[in-house]
Parts: sequence; C-alpha cells; structure tokens
Amino acid sequence: MSQGRDGFTTAFGALMATLGSAVGLGNIWKFPSLTGTNGGAGFLLVYLAATILVGLPVMISEIMLGRTARADAITSFEKLAPRNQWWWKVIGWMGFAAALLIMAFYSEVAGWVYAYIFKSLTGEIATTDPKAAEAVFGQMVSNPWSSLIWQWIVLGLTGFIIAFGVSKGIEAVTRRLMPLLFILLLVLCVRSLTLSGAGDGLAFLFSPDFAKITPAVMLTALGLAFFKLSLGMGTMLTYGSYFRENQNIAGTATRVMLADLSVSLLAGIAIFPAVFAFGFEPAAGPSLVFMTIPAVFTSMPGGIVFMTLFFILTAIASVGAILSLLEVVVAILSERFGLPRKTAAISTIAMIAVLGVPAALSQGTMADFKLFGLNMFDLFDFLSSNILLPVGGILICLFVGWVYGLAAPEKRLAEAGTPVQRVVIRSVFFLVRFVAPVAIAIVLLNGLGAF
Ligand code: PHE
Repeated sequence: MSQGRDGFTTAFGALMATLGSAVGLGNIWKFPSLTGTNGGAGFLLVYLAATILVGLPVMISEIMLGRTARADAITSFEKLAPRNQWWWKVIGWMGFAAALLIMAFYSEVAGWVYAYIFKSLTGEIATTDPKAAEAVFGQMVSNPWSSLIWQWIVLGLTGFIIAFGVSKGIEAVTRRLMPLLFILLLVLCVRSLTLSGAGDGLAFLFSPDFAKITPAVMLTALGLAFFKLSLGMGTMLTYGSYFRENQNIAGTATRVMLADLSVSLLAGIAIFPAVFAFGFEPAAGPSLVFMTIPAVFTSMPGGIVFMTLFFILTAIASVGAILSLLEVVVAILSERFGLPRKTAAISTIAMIAVLGVPAALSQGTMADFKLFGLNMFDLFDFLSSNILLPVGGILICLFVGWVYGLAAPEKRLAEAGTPVQRVVIRSVFFLVRFVAPVAIAIVLLNGLGAF
C-alpha cells in the first residue's frame, strides 16, 4: 500500500463522507421532482427495488475495488485487471466524463439553492400561491447572469475545499451538519402532514398505479438509484480507496443506503402533501421543490427562519455530494497524471465552468437550443443518469463478478472479515455476476426503446 496517500482517518469519518456523497440535491431536489413527473408511488416502488437489489451490491463492489486497488478510478482498473485486458479502464474514463456532466447541471441547481437562502431572508419566496412561487423561480432561472454567477460561487467554494485534500477538507465539512438537516426535514413533514388535504399527497406517494410504470419510468427510476447512491462512475470506488483496511464495507454501504433512502422519503413526505394541499402541480419538474418547500414554511410560525435554515442546510448537503464528484476527477488528474492537487482542483473547476455555461443558460437564453429534443440541462442529466451510470454499473458488476471476484476468491472473502460479512460478500458476488447486470441491461435497453 502506498504510504503517502491521503485517506479517511477514522471509520466514522469514512461513513460520514460516503453518506455526504450520497445525500444531496438528489434527495431534496431530484427525488421529489422525478417522483412527481413519473406518476408517484409506482415510480417509488421501482426506485426502491433498484436501490436495494442493484444499488447496494454495486456500492459494496465499488468500495471493495477501491480499497483493494488504492488508486484513482482509472488506475484501479488497470491495477486489478489482467495485463492483457486493458479495456476495463474505460469504466474509469466514463466516470471522469460522467462526473463533469453531472457537475455541469448539479452546480447550477446548487446555485439555485444558494440564491434561495437570500430569497428566504428577503421574504420574496414566502408565498403559498403557486402562481407567485412559479414567477419567482422562473425569473431566477431565466436570468443568464444570476444563473452563471451563482454557479460560479458554488464552484469557487467547493473547489477551495477540495484543494485542501481528503481528510482535512471533506471529512471536516461533512461530518457535522447532516443530523441537523434530518431534523429540519422531520419538522417539515409534521407541518405538511397536518395541512388540510394532505391525504391526497400521501396517496400519490404510496398507493401505486401500476399502469404508470412504463419502460421509460423504469429507466428513470434505475438512473435515479445510481445517481442517489453516487454509483456507476467511480465515486464510491475513489472513496473506497481512502477507506482503512479494517472498515466493514458491507455495513457501511448498508447504513448509507438506508440513511439516504430515509432522507429521500422524508423529502417526499414533506413535499407531496403540500403539493396537493396548496394546489401545486406534482409534475412541475425541477421547480417543484423550490415552490412547495417555501409554501410549507410560509404556513407555519417562524417560517422565514426555518426556511432560511433549510436552504442553508441543503446547500451544505450539496457540498458533500459535489466534493465526491470533484474527487473522482481530481484524483485522476493528480494521481494518474501527476498534477499537484491544487492545480488538479483548479483544472477540474475550469472544465466544469465551461461545461456549466450551456446548462446554466438552458432555462433562459439558450432554452431553444436542443439536442434529441432536450435542452442542455436535461441532456446532461439524461446522458449521465440514464446512460453513463447504468452502463458503468453493468461494467463494474461484470468486472467484480467475473474478474476481481474470480481471481482470488478465498483472499477476497478473507478480506471481508467476520463470517457474517463473508456471507454478504459471497451474495454480492452472486448478485453482480448474474442478477444485477442482466437486470440493468434489460431496464436500460427497454427504457431506450430497444425491444
Ligand atoms: N448522490 C448525490 C446526490 O444525490 C449526487 C451524486 C451523483 C454524487 C453521482 C456523486 C456521484 O445528491
């Protein structure tokens, strides 16, 4: 093992950073907006199945690969694959591309959250009227300069943190603030559930209409499962490479999966009852959260204070996810290409800033600039979540199942630790060898209309 390599200093730190990567705008923003546009409970059901049956084993696999290889997402495959099978490192390059694409739109949404901190303070968004809420949001996203500047602020701040390295930067920031967000979400849920008309929201979220589960809906749910747990693109692999030797990987991954799921469900329960109680449109898409959350807060005493706090905490939650996205690219540039960490961080931010321009302008100035019928924001999202991550997931499964797991099975199981953990790893090998890759491939091809 390389001595000078940075890494998480404690098992708890590693857990919190991994959790910090998983929990982010995916829970607060993407999960509700996709659940709304894809018909509610049926979507949630597929998402649940994908998270547990595919997401968990893939997460364990990725962390395992990283911890064994102790290298960035490209070099890890080079180290672990047999010499003549150079092509496995394509997975790492796909991850590199996915990280940049995701960051291009993710930093934009994070910018909206930052802007909403100030809009909470001024009272501008304190309304329960759908039309007024929509107007504020629409005005913000269609203004090119405010879109760009907020995005650059996000990139500047997170680039600064990432430049300081893994244990000091990431651990320090992510460890402290997650519990607070959780509590605030609980408060929101209580308020939302006590609104009159809340029942319709719960029915939307929990009583499935199976006719709404189309192949496209299934692909979106699968893509969300990958996105939510930061899978299929080397994030968990890169973090795994910073795990200590004796960390319980399966246990850590299971906790992260459960916590991430709870935060998403809480966000759903906070939002959908309010959507129906106030007469918002559940299929509003990306604007849904930005309209309904302020409405719930507005309807309770001390709303402005809580609302401000909520957007601050969401901004902080987004930091943990952004750092993990940046880390994939920064690790590749610094370890594989030998750039000093600070130079690597600055180059990464610069690439994202360029790619981020079309994403930031896609709701205004460049709204009519479309490829395959999607504006750039939606295109980056679709390409990464629905194509790159699932394809990366299939390849990672195949690699772990057929190359890594077969190479020295006894050694792999011994590394797993206790007898219980061995059984878990054995089942993971089985799942990623046969079940997961086939399931992902079917959903992917079906969702793209191949059958
Ligand atoms: N999981 C993060 C979220 O839900 C987003 C993310 C995706 C982070 C892929 C890293 C890699 O907010």
